[in-house]
Amino acid sequence: MVTTLKKVSDTNSPKIIKSTKVIFFILTITFLMVIIATVTVTVMGETSEEYMGAGYCAGCHSTESEHWSSSPHADASSNAEFLEDWEELDSSVSCLSCHTTGFDEDTNTFETEGVTCEACHGPGDTMERDTSPELCGECHSGPYPTYEEWKDSGPSHGNADCLLCHDQHTAELKFETSTGTCGQCHDTHVDQVLDTVHGETDVECADCHMIEEPADFVKGTPAKTGHSFSLTEHELDCSTCHDRPLSKHDVLGEKAYACLSCHGDIHELKLELVNREVYPLDNSVPLCAQCHNERYTAWEQGTHGEYDDPEAQCTECHDPHDPIITGISTLESIPPRVAAKPAPILPLIVVAVVVELLFIAVFVFRRQSNV
Ligand code: HEC
Ligand code: HEC
Ligand code: HEC
Ligand code: HEC
Ligand code: HEC
Ligand code: HEC
Ligand code: HEC
Ligand code: HEC
Ligand code: HEC
Ligand code: HEC
Ligand code: HEC
Repeated sequence: MVTTLKKVSDTNSPKIIKSTKVIFFILTITFLMVIIATVTVTVMGETSEEYMGAGYCAGCHSTESEHWSSSPHADASSNAEFLEDWEELDSSVSCLSCHTTGFDEDTNTFETEGVTCEACHGPGDTMERDTSPELCGECHSGPYPTYEEWKDSGPSHGNADCLLCHDQHTAELKFETSTGTCGQCHDTHVDQVLDTVHGETDVECADCHMIEEPADFVKGTPAKTGHSFSLTEHELDCSTCHDRPLSKHDVLGEKAYACLSCHGDIHELKLELVNREVYPLDNSVPLCAQCHNERYTAWEQGTHGEYDDPEAQCTECHDPHDPIITGISTLESIPPRVAAKPAPILPLIVVAVVVELLFIAVFVFRRQSNV
């Protein structure tokens, strides 16, 4: 190219040669710039697929970084509890797929420690915005069946995705309490609970409706997380807060279900009969009456308790949780009255016939002896 240009310059005037040189220079520069730009774009494209670490993102996204850095995701592979379990399991690589970022199953290596920005947004400049529960479910499943439970929690909860209740960066609830969280949809229940001593003493929906049991990796025990929100899935145990062992009435059900056979309106903390009638705690006679009808009748008539004393409810004398009155243990319990049985007819007839035959025999014998 250059030689051709020289040949042209030889046969032409110097002015033309000068302008040709300038054009050539501009063309070359442009060409080089295009090459550099292409190379730069290609190289940049490659780095955007590389893991850069959370520090890279922090440069432009300080708020998100700040929120994330104090979350359990940030130190998922460096916190003491994880390390302890992990070392006890001979530093099993199987743990790293969820506790690190960019884990490669083929090489058993990872890119960065902990669950970093890139675990959720993709490496480098990918900056994907994935709001699906399946993203969280990549790790919050299996030993912690949060995703599975949530998916099975019925259509209503299954449509409320993780981010409705959880902040993706702090990993905390978006509301201060679980009660606030559930209140997005269950405001009636919230009003009911807040009006009771449970509400006053900060007993939250999750205290009864969720059970969070950490998986014990060392023992291989899977966990419960409570994201079904339903009580049939697990056994609620009121005794975690109420040291109230039942005697006699323990036959009414397992754990909380015994309590619920009397405290059936659990949100309003009222007593509930099987016909769904509701009574306050201090009006329990109808409750006792539905199961102890004979005693109730006796009580009503004044032969058991004091009928003319409105204060003499069953619970004045009997603790509903331990109803046997121990102070008078010397009293024998009164045997139930047995209705007089009708006299048996057949043996009576037999006896009558035998007696009659005897009389006839005696009569006949006497007459014959008289004769
Ligand atoms: C050089 C600055 C810069 C760096 C470094 C950077 N980002 Fe961004 N990011 C931006 C800008 C600018 C936007 C666009 C903001 C907007 O659309 O409002 C953005 C948007 C995003 C979004 C939203 C995407 C969307 O679809 O709405 C996410 C997620 C994101 N970045 C994540 C990351 C992550 C993770 C990293 C680190 C691996 C990172 N960013 C590094 C500048 C940066
Ligand atoms: C399928 C993904 C996954 C695998 C594999 C996994 N974990 Fe986890 N791990 C999690 C999730 C998710 C949590 C947080 C769960 C929660 O709180 O609901 C967690 C929490 C923990 C915790 C509790 C940490 C704390 O701060 O309370 C320990 C300890 C732990 N894992 C150890 C291990 C060990 C050891 C292994 C390997 C045997 C392992 N994990 C494998 C996903 C996983
Ligand atoms: C556990 C997964 C997870 C991690 C870890 C995570 N993010 Fe996000 N991030 C999300 C999700 C999900 C969204 C989308 C939220 C939405 O749209 O409601 C999001 C949104 C964003 C956005 C867009 C914010 C907006 O309001 O538009 C930015 C920027 C971002 N993340 C940056 C980061 C950075 C930087 C880090 C690390 C310091 C990080 N994220 C760590 C899940 C994560
Ligand atoms: C790459 C795997 C991974 C992904 C994806 C992931 N997490 Fe996690 N998450 C973990 C691990 C591991 C822990 C436990 C960290 C620890 O304490 O050791 C955890 C902890 C949590 C915790 C705190 C649990 C506790 O006991 O306090 C919440 C809440 C949480 N994640 C919510 C989410 C949400 C919401 C998403 C989706 C936006 C998500 N996570 C995505 C791995 C992941
Ligand atoms: C209807 C609201 C709601 C939805 C939807 C929800 N959660 Fe939760 N989650 C909660 C509440 C409430 C807690 C208990 C927090 C507490 O009491 O501190 C919790 C606790 C957790 C915890 C910590 C305890 C545990 O279970 O090990 C993790 C992790 C978690 N949720 C992840 C998720 C993921 C992942 C999803 C989506 C698949 C999800 N959650 C969907 C309300 C919700
Ligand atoms: C996005 C709205 C929404 C949120 C948030 C929500 N729920 Fe529900 N939930 C519903 C709907 C709708 C139903 C079905 C109608 C009904 O029974 O009220 C339901 C039903 C229930 C049921 C009865 C059905 C069953 O599966 O046994 C329980 C218990 C329950 N929710 C508990 C909770 C708890 C606890 C929380 C908070 C951690 C919560 N819900 C948060 C919408 C929601
Ligand atoms: C003291 C424990 C306790 C607390 C606190 C509690 N619940 Fe319940 N909840 C129960 C029990 C037990 C049942 C099941 C009742 C049954 O099977 O008869 C139930 C049933 C439900 C149901 C389904 C049946 C119905 O009544 O509609 C919903 C929805 C519900 N609860 C929501 C909530 C919400 C929301 C909160 C928080 C404001 C909450 N619960 C607080 C124990 C509790
Ligand atoms: C998270 C702890 C917690 C759980 C779980 C719990 N309670 Fe309570 N409950 C309390 C506290 C605190 C009080 C108020 C102080 C007290 O009376 O002990 C209370 C009070 C009560 C009262 C007295 C109400 C009044 O007006 O005096 C009843 C009844 C009750 N609870 C029944 C139950 C039943 C039934 C269950 C199980 C279905 C249950 N609670 C589960 C913490 C709890
Ligand atoms: C046979 C019915 C019955 C059963 C079963 C029952 N309760 Fe009660 N409970 C009552 C009645 C009635 C009262 C009101 C007592 C009063 O007015 O003196 C009461 C009162 C209470 C109180 C508040 C007053 C007090 O004595 O401190 C608590 C707390 C309580 N019950 C918890 C429970 C728990 C927890 C269970 C299950 C382990 C349970 N109850 C099982 C009938 C019952
Ligand atoms: C849901 C039915 C039910 C309700 C409501 C109920 N009980 Fe009972 N009660 C029983 C059963 C079942 C037994 C156990 C009988 C047995 O052990 O043979 C029992 C036992 C007793 C005993 C001991 C009797 C014995 O023969 O050992 C007393 C006393 C008693 N209840 C009093 C009460 C009082 C007072 C109330 C009201 C606060 C009450 N009960 C409410 C079902 C009920
Ligand atoms: C004035 C006190 C008093 C009142 C009120 C009272 N009881 Fe009794 N009850 C007793 C005594 C005393 C016994 C015999 C001692 C015992 O067996 O525990 C007894 C026995 C019983 C027994 C049989 C216990 C057994 O060992 O066989 C039942 C059931 C019972 N009561 C139920 C009720 C019911 C239901 C009410 C309310 C309708 C009620 N009581 C009211 C004092 C009372």
